[in-house]
Amino acid sequence: MDRLIKLLNKDKKMVVGLMSGTSIDGIDCALVEIEGSGLNTKVNLLKFYNHPISLELKRDILKACSITQSSVELICRLNFKIGEEFAEAVLKICELVGINCNDVDLIGSHGQTIYHIPQNSTLQMGEASVIAEKTGIAVVADFRVRDVAAGGHGAPLVPYTEYLLYRNSYKTIALQNIGGIGNVTVIPKGCGINEVYAFDTGPGNMMIDAIVEKITNGKMRFDEEGKLASKGKINTKLLSELMLHPFIIKNPPKTTGREEFGLEYSEKILEKYLNSNVSESDIINTVTYFTATSICENYRKFILLKHDIDEVIISGGGTYNKTLIRMIKEELKGINVLTQEDIGLSSEAKEAVAFAILANEAIHGNANNLPNVTEANKSVVMGKIMY
Ligand SMILES: Nc1ncnc2c1ncn2[C@@H]1O[C@H](COP(=O)(O)OP(=O)(O)O)[C@@H](O)[C@H]1O
Ligand SMILES: [Mg+2]
Repeated sequence: MDRLIKLLNKDKKMVVGLMSGTSIDGIDCALVEIEGSGLNTKVNLLKFYNHPISLELKRDILKACSITQSSVELICRLNFKIGEEFAEAVLKICELVGINCNDVDLIGSHGQTIYHIPQNSTLQMGEASVIAEKTGIAVVADFRVRDVAAGGHGAPLVPYTEYLLYRNSYKTIALQNIGGIGNVTVIPKGCGINEVYAFDTGPGNMMIDAIVEKITNGKMRFDEEGKLASKGKINTKLLSELMLHPFIIKNPPKTTGREEFGLEYSEKILEKYLNSNVSESDIINTVTYFTATSICENYRKFILLKHDIDEVIISGGGTYNKTLIRMIKEELKGINVLTQEDIGLSSEAKEAVAFAILANEAIHGNANNLPNVTEANKSVVMGKIMY
């Protein structure tokens, strides 16, 4: 307990946030300095590092996520294996900035989602005990389960941290993340914490990644800077078929995942249109356009009918797909569309930073879910503390 009390009394804490999303493209690791807590939180990013996940481990994780291929042995083994990889990521980031592990006060770890049953149960792997043992640092992990136990979806969790960091009295801000899935958080100008709303917009990079990986026989895992997409043009027949996807016009709150926009769906589309002689680059261009327009269509239907948006700030790996970003900007003419980099922050680090903040909130005993967003019955302190 002494250790925790000492930690609480520190003005500034060194915290590492760890996150691995649905893309399974590596463990995002952000070393930050956090001052204060709650509405007084101030964060400074010191270093971001993406710890690679081997193709073998990625395949094992995908297997563990699959109802037909998973096994209890695999899930049990991966829980420790992923914990070890998360710990490695922490050791590596300390080495990269030339500090000792003992200088880090706290780790906030999201883990790797293996399965999610909305408002019923959710399972993230990456054993916190392993991370604590290997690093000697206090760990807060496994955030989502507490919100689910309180009747919520256990997602999204980032909007709470976005309210702390981005709220603005004069501007309505939409924070669009483009990871495997796309999701948006809306912070109306001058709003209270309970007026924040958020929902998934549909695919982020998931379909683009699946199609590029398939076409290149696994040589490329994503469309680097959107170059492949930029060589093609829109195929209207394919676009019309994609736009019929029921998720796009579904009313929020709504969440989606691999089940709807993953490998199976993407490969079916690819095969069908390759068979009708549509070129690979036209398919990639059209799927990229679908990703952009599904985001914008959600804005038109579920945000702009209620109120204006002054600023869209994009984050996540999709920020680096130039074709995708150009398409979004064209569709949202009249709205200021920026990336995290445009405002001096980091697109790739944002989610990992969020889990560092959620961990800081947990040790301060601050409720860190947004019941309005997750549909939980009440505010709760998420995160299991291990020290
Ligand atoms: N240089 C790049 N050019 C194009 N796309 C990129 C680039 N870097 C990352 N991405 C995309 O971002 C994805 C990872 O985004 P991320 O925000 O980490 O998603 P997740 O939270 O699902 O892990 C990659 O799979 C890829 O599609
Ligand atoms: Mg990622």
